[in-house]
Amino acid sequence: MNSPKDHTRDIAIRGLRLAYGDVPVLDGVDLDVPAGTVLALLGPSGCGKSTLLKSLAGLLRPRQGSIRFGSQVVCDDGRHAPPEQRDLGMVFQDYALWPHMTVGQNIAFPLQMRKVAKAEHARRVEEALALVGLAGMAARRPADLSGGQQQRVGLARAIVARPRVLLFDEPLSNLDRDLRETLCAEIGALLRTLGTTAVYVTHDHAEAHALAHCIARMASGRIASLEHNEPGH
Ligand SMILES: Nc1ncnc2c1ncn2[C@@H]1O[C@H](COP(=O)(O)OP(=O)(O)OP(=O)(O)O)[C@@H](O)[C@H]1O
Ligand SMILES: [Mg+2]
Repeated sequence: MNSPKDHTRDIAIRGLRLAYGDVPVLDGVDLDVPAGTVLALLGPSGCGKSTLLKSLAGLLRPRQGSIRFGSQVVCDDGRHAPPEQRDLGMVFQDYALWPHMTVGQNIAFPLQMRKVAKAEHARRVEEALALVGLAGMAARRPADLSGGQQQRVGLARAIVARPRVLLFDEPLSNLDRDLRETLCAEIGALLRTLGTTAVYVTHDHAEAHALAHCIARMASGRIASLEHNEPGH
């Protein structure tokens, strides 16, 4: 069990390297995200943002370097904790909901993975749905929801198990502008409520400034610059 102090975790990335074949994509990434803060990751298309995020999630295995979440080393030379052992939630650009499952079943999936008692599921799912403004929608199918609502379900699924790290990969880029602004503000409020450490990949500078305590820019497989920011300004 985690102690109450370990409610949220810092992230420390050191010397991370990853190549696709002979092409290096991460070329020595060093990055720290203090516990309870949001880091926005910006950079040109193809610079490796999603690759870095997937490495944090455990979906890709770096060739070299280390990743630590709080006291847990999740990746180190030879060591690789699978995603389900990293206590994280992830929100994807394309929502990645399972179409054959109801909204409630989609959201309950992380609870099932973590072996949370079945009797708890309905309450936790409703709580997460209420947090994203979709109370009462558990019985719907993803196909019967708008894009914005589907991404709210993606968000509810990411937070339902109250993970200690949240990862976002351009979660709003499939939505139109007005909705993007609304959901961005909602995600900001949610992150402040939960106080979860988060890495948020985006192309949108306004989104980064609205949400993040720190803005990192990637270039040539490394972190090229870091800028402190006051979220909402
Ligand atoms: N499975 C793969 N096999 C080979 N090359 C890949 C693979 N996935 C990504 N790449 C390449 O690695 C580089 C980094 O990709 P990545 O998806 O991390 O970029 P990104 O910064 O997220 O870009 P975008 O902003 O367009 O989403 C790109 O050149 C991409 O073509
Ligand atoms: Mg990407």
